[in-house]
Amino acid sequence: MFMKYTVITGASSGLGYHFAYVAAKHNHNLILIARNFEQLKKIQKDIMHQYNIDVVCIKCDLI
Ligand SMILES: NC(=O)c1ccc[n+]([C@@H]2O[C@H](COP(=O)([O-])OP(=O)(O)OC[C@H]3O[C@@H](n4cnc5c(N)ncnc54)[C@H](OP(=O)(O)O)[C@@H]3O)[C@@H](O)[C@H]2O)c1
Repeated sequence: MFMKYTVITGASSGLGYHFAYVAAKHNHNLILIARNFEQLKKIQKDIMHQYNIDVVCIKCDLI
């Protein structure tokens, strides 16, 4: 069975960070993208501790 993921760019802070938690609350698995990988890993750990979903982090400069 395929798993669906919601991709959130700019997830390390600001609107993207908050969107990540809203999507997690709605049981979306997440792919979080930003340059600050350490921050993404902290968010991944926190979200996976609170919600029963999968969270993948990708370090990427989108420019
Ligand atoms: N805040 C508002 O009220 C508002 C209103 C209307 C529209 N917007 C638009 O919504 C977007 C998000 O705004 P924001 O207020 O949340 O803050 P922002 O400072 O524009 O976005 C911060 C996020 O973007 C990531 N980011 C920045 N440059 C990046 C790059 N080159 N590659 C990958 N990720 C990058 C940052 O992560 P890293 O630094 O870790 O890469 C961080 O996660 C912007 O386009 C903004 O213009 C915002």
